[in-house]
This record gives sequence, structure tokens and C-alpha cells, in this order.
Amino acid sequence: MPDQPRPPRTAAVIPAAGRGVRLGPGTPKALRTLNGTPILVHAVRAMAASRSVSLVVVVAPPEGAPEVKRLLDAHTLPERTEYLVVPGGETRQESVRLGLDALPEGVDIVLVHDAARPLVPVETVDAVIEAVREGAPAVVPALPLADTVKEVGPAEDGGPEPVVATPVRSRLRAVQTPQGFDHATLARAHRTVTGEVTDDASMVEQLGPGVVVVPGHEEAFKVTRPLDLVLAEAVLARRRANDGF
Ligand code: C5P
Repeated sequence: MPDQPRPPRTAAVIPAAGRGVRLGPGTPKALRTLNGTPILVHAVRAMAASRSVSLVVVVAPPEGAPEVKRLLDAHTLPERTEYLVVPGGETRQESVRLGLDALPEGVDIVLVHDAARPLVPVETVDAVIEAVREGAPAVVPALPLADTVKEVGPAEDGGPEPVVATPVRSRLRAVQTPQGFDHATLARAHRTVTGEVTDDASMVEQLGPGVVVVPGHEEAFKVTRPLDLVLAEAVLARRRANDGF
């Protein structure tokens, strides 16, 4: 009998090594709790909620891997998914690369998901995976902007920053995670692209065209500032209320 082609294997890498200084002093952001559960555990569950994801690699603060491992062991996670914890690096980019280095052979699709986006719905995760399966080398979930964006130049002599440009808002998108990748393409981008980047897809953009957008979700916002914690608790309360009916 001829071999059946195996379905693509999908893994998620969750960089969680940031200090989260914008949230104020205290515990690293990923370990702060929402409704009594660490933000990181919410993010891991959000990835494992997709039936396509069979492995989740969490990139912990450099000295914090044993603590993060204990934390995951202490929370209920879907059993069909494997979990790995590796120590991270100085920058987000380095942390993602260390997560990629930990992936076993045979992973075809990689999601990279910020620990700081604990509430992304599974429909968004699956839409990203589906677009990679259909052939895009990189896929980003994104939303149109409510605010107009200005580009500014450096302020002179303590004066106000001068505005230098106003990009056309209808062509701009605010990009979220998980971002999805053909594994080989993302690994190549991490080997060859240097310079500061704030997301992984921009590294693949530097290799060539083909990066595409799928609709993002308002609940996939990044918990960055104190008010975001209030919003995240409200989203969880709404979910609980809806589940009750
Ligand atoms: O700083 P920013 O909000 O862009 O961080 C996005 C994600 O990258 C967070 O989940 C953070 O924990 C992670 N990160 C990391 N290693 C770093 C810096 C940030 O894993 N050195």
C-alpha cells in the first residue's frame, strides 16, 4: 500500500522572556495572573486549543526556565499537546531563535505567539495555520487602525517632535500574533536577517514577497500597560458569562 502523505506538523513557539517594564514594577509580565491564572498559561492554552498544534515551546526568562516548567506542570493543559521550556535571550528575536533551535525534526509549520497575548481565540490561530497550509511563507493576523498614525522626527533642543509624514490609514494594519510560518523559511530568516525587528514576519519580508494578512481579533490584544489587565479581566468575565448560557 502506498504511504499516505502525513499531515503537516505544527508547533508553537511562545517568547515569554520579556520583563514587561511598561506594566509597572513587579513580577515578569508573563507570570502575572489574570483571574488567578498566569498570563503565560492562558497563552499556552490558547495555542494548545488548536487541534493542529502538537508541540508548544515556551521561551522562559534566561534564569527562569525551572520556575516556568514548574508553573506549567502545576496547571491543567490539553494532554494531546507536548510542552518544552527553554531559556530565552536578551532580545525578543534572540528568544524566538532559541525556541526555534529547540524544535525537533519533522515540524513543518511554526507559530510564533507573544506570551503577552493571552486571549487570542482559537479561530484566529486556525485561520493563520490554514493560510500557511495553503502556501504562504508567512501569515500575520491584523486589524485596521482606529487612530491615524504620524511619523515623527527627532525633537530639537527639547522642543516638540516635528511630524514628517502621515501614512494613508486605510492601508495600515495593526499586527498581532500568532504569526504563522513555513518552518524552513523562518529558520532561514533567523540565520540570515540581522538588525532590529519587532516581529518575525518582517524578517521573512526581507527574504522576498509572499507574506500575507488574515483577519486578526480584538481579543488578541497585547497586555502591555496596566489598563490592558483590566480589559483582559473583562474579556474573561464576558466569556464566563457567555459559557454560562
Ligand atoms: O517587548 P514586547 O512587548 O514586544 O515583547 C513581546 C513578547 O516577546 C513578550 O511575550 C515577551 O515576553 C517576549 N520577549 C522575549 N525575550 C525578550 C524580550 C521579549 O521572549 N528578550
